[in-house]
Amino acid sequence: MNVLLTGGAGYIGTHTAVELISAGHDVVVVDALSNGNAEAIRRVERITGHAVPFYPEDCSDPVVMEKILTDHPIDAVIHCAGLKAVGESTEQPLRYYRNNLDALLTVCEAMQAHGVRRMVFSSSATVYGDPAHVPITEDMPLSVSNPYGATKLFIEQILRDLAAADARWEIISLRYFNPIGAHESGLIGEDPHGVPNNLFPYIAQVAAGRRDKVRVFGDDYDTPDGTGVRDYLHVTDLALGHLAALEHLAGTPGHRVYNLGTGTGTSVLESIAAFERACGRRIPYEVVGRRPGDIATCYADPSAARRDLGWQTTRSIDEACADAWRWQSANPRGFAGG
Ligand code: WQD
Repeated sequence: MNVLLTGGAGYIGTHTAVELISAGHDVVVVDALSNGNAEAIRRVERITGHAVPFYPEDCSDPVVMEKILTDHPIDAVIHCAGLKAVGESTEQPLRYYRNNLDALLTVCEAMQAHGVRRMVFSSSATVYGDPAHVPITEDMPLSVSNPYGATKLFIEQILRDLAAADARWEIISLRYFNPIGAHESGLIGEDPHGVPNNLFPYIAQVAAGRRDKVRVFGDDYDTPDGTGVRDYLHVTDLALGHLAALEHLAGTPGHRVYNLGTGTGTSVLESIAAFERACGRRIPYEVVGRRPGDIATCYADPSAARRDLGWQTTRSIDEACADAWRWQSANPRGFAGG
């Protein structure tokens, strides 16, 4: 299929592009580079040996979307474009609602105008809020506590309404848990701008000597070792989840949601220990106060994706740490190092 990948120069987007191309699909990327990097597209081409038409533009611009869908016979869209920092969204709600909702609405309107009605949407486990119990299944209550999570919830509702109004739409929303790691080549990986919000890129930068220690946000949670527990899945497994969803879409009208996770919880201290095993270095840390808004435990029941999409994770957290360390070591300044 010819696939338009919005946000395709970002962490999830680049890894998804590699797996789509490796599976024989043709990929076109549009990315405004608010989080992504044009060098990452060149790395995707190097890994796959295929050219990737790239539009360094904002997909919320109708003129941009009209040009892309006119220039390319697109069969499906994988929509990853969006701002995604929880804390920042709380400080800048209007920017997040405008950016994330405008992008989705413009992309869907352009698709509809061109008769393209297959979409995989990058959603997030953050729509579950603080779950009443774990593992989390797709039918559990949804609740959000920040504008970023709200944009994911609102977009899922928009897509549900779209599919209900026109049965020709075939849509899957993928609720990511916590993606980590990097492509095995070490050529692409997570390259956060500024101080990493997320645990794993922060650990990687401490291991590389770019930061002095990991601050562990609380060890007084009701978890086995007191630190936060999450479902960390290898980004390549996540990318393959997009491929499975895309190939499942044909002939399945409606809107469906699937958890993409390992089904296993890992604590902050276990994550630090796993990275120490991967890099062969001690990673200093200090326990500090809880981060506002954090929950104790969150991990997936991924059985629906296994049943319907034939997808499950296969890579371990140790493999993810080894791949992340290979990327970090080879690219100490991320893509800026060229
Ligand atoms: C993981 C654990 C922290 C940093 C977020 C978003 C979610 C999704 C994934 C986009 C928690 C602890 C973290 C640090 C720490 N993003 N931690 N020190 O919060 O589960 O999910 O990223 O879709 O929407 O909410 O991930 O990596 O920030 O935190 O102790 O420096 O690590 O308390 O227990 P989170 P995270």
